[in-house]
Amino acid sequence: MPIEWRPEFSVGDPGVDYEHRQLVDLVNVAAADILDNRPEADVERALGDLLRAVTAHFAHEEHQMRAAGYDQLHDHKDDHERLIDSLRDIMDDRDIAAPAAAERLTRVLEDWFTGHFSTHDARLHKVLGPHEH
Ligand SMILES: [Fe+2]
Ligand SMILES: [Fe+2]
Repeated sequence: MPIEWRPEFSVGDPGVDYEHRQLVDLVNVAAADILDNRPEADVERALGDLLRAVTAHFAHEEHQMRAAGYDQLHDHKDDHERLIDSLRDIMDDRDIAAPAAAERLTRVLEDWFTGHFSTHDARLHKVLGPHEH
């Protein structure tokens, strides 16, 4: 089951929501490659694309937080690192191309998105305001 965009994912800033939608799409592409029995090299490429996009998005937010002297930088960054660790665990799995890996990927990422977007990101982008990025 692909991750579907939900209203509670929105942080109230269309530019940020667009970036978050792209991350959701990349999760779905990687999961679909696994479920379609694509060669392992394709699955690894899709997961690599996802990891790169996630890392770049987080780096951008962390830069914004530092520039703004944001009070919850530490907690927010910890939650980013938690997801990077989970994603790396999934990618290190020997059975990366098995259907169970697709389920694990979507479940872990959807849970994280559900928690992070509506809390850490919603607060951050409210503080930054719509013209800061
Ligand atoms: Fe974000
Ligand atoms: Fe974030």
